[in-house]
Amino acid sequence: MRCFDCHQVHSGRNPSNLIRSGNALCLNCHTADNPAGLRTSVAEHTHHPAGSPGSECTSCHMPRIEQTLGKTSVSSHTFRFISPKLTEQFGIPNPCTSCHEGKSNEWALSELASWKTTSPWRVSR
Ligand code: HEC
Ligand code: HEC
Ligand code: HEC
Ligand code: HEC
Repeated sequence: MRCFDCHQVHSGRNPSNLIRSGNALCLNCHTADNPAGLRTSVAEHTHHPAGSPGSECTSCHMPRIEQTLGKTSVSSHTFRFISPKLTEQFGIPNPCTSCHEGKSNEWALSELASWKTTSPWRVSR
């Protein structure tokens, strides 16, 4: 993966100079027929209604937690989902409770444990 797989070098047509905007950027590669593709529909994968903020790929895979200059935070570019377990262990902010302000890590972990699309061993234990 190179920066220009997602970003356009000379055009500001989309926010952050992206080649495509919204989920279309990610779904261009993560199609069902691709080994790295989603095995389910977007709503089944995200467990949030399609088209809603909780169903945007970047909401869970690129939260704005990378600190740069001063208090400016930019999107994480590791794309890995950050489990609330990592918040408990290392204090890294997770996307669930960053968006669901006021909810606990415990709440997010028990919701994640009920998701059949992912292994609880990877995300909630
Ligand atoms: C140019 C094609 C391409 C685009 C665009 C793309 N991906 Fe990927 N993505 C890949 C490939 C290839 C892999 C590696 C698959 C593997 O090694 O199994 C990958 C892996 C991943 C993984 C798994 C990472 C891991 O460590 O297991 C996640 C999550 C992911 N991408 C999310 C996203 C998100 C979110 C976007 C949109 C912001 C996105 N991808 C856009 C091609 C792409
Ligand atoms: C509400 C949160 C959430 C949203 C939104 C979300 N994902 Fe995920 N995604 C997860 C979780 C949780 C995992 C499992 C992580 C793990 O097992 O380490 C995951 C795993 C993945 C993986 C790794 C392979 C797999 O299926 O386990 C890919 C690729 C991926 N997501 C792509 C996407 C794309 C593309 C979008 C947008 C269409 C998206 N995700 C939106 C939570 C989300
Ligand atoms: C898989 C797709 C993908 C790749 C590869 C990628 N980016 Fe991004 N980048 C994004 C997305 C999506 C956003 C916008 C995130 C948002 O709006 O929440 C973004 C945003 C940014 C921003 C704006 C600041 C921000 O946080 O929104 C900068 C700067 C940036 N990327 C630099 C880079 C650089 C440098 C590379 C290569 C080292 C790179 N990106 C590779 C998808 C990608
Ligand atoms: C970008 C913001 C955002 C992120 C990130 C997000 N959610 Fe949500 N979530 C929402 C919104 C908004 C709703 C309300 C339903 C809707 O979208 O119409 C919701 C609804 C829910 C609900 C059902 C209603 C409730 O409050 O009980 C659960 C459960 C939930 N989210 C769990 C999670 C978990 C677990 C994660 C992390 C994997 C997560 N959410 C990540 C925004 C988000």
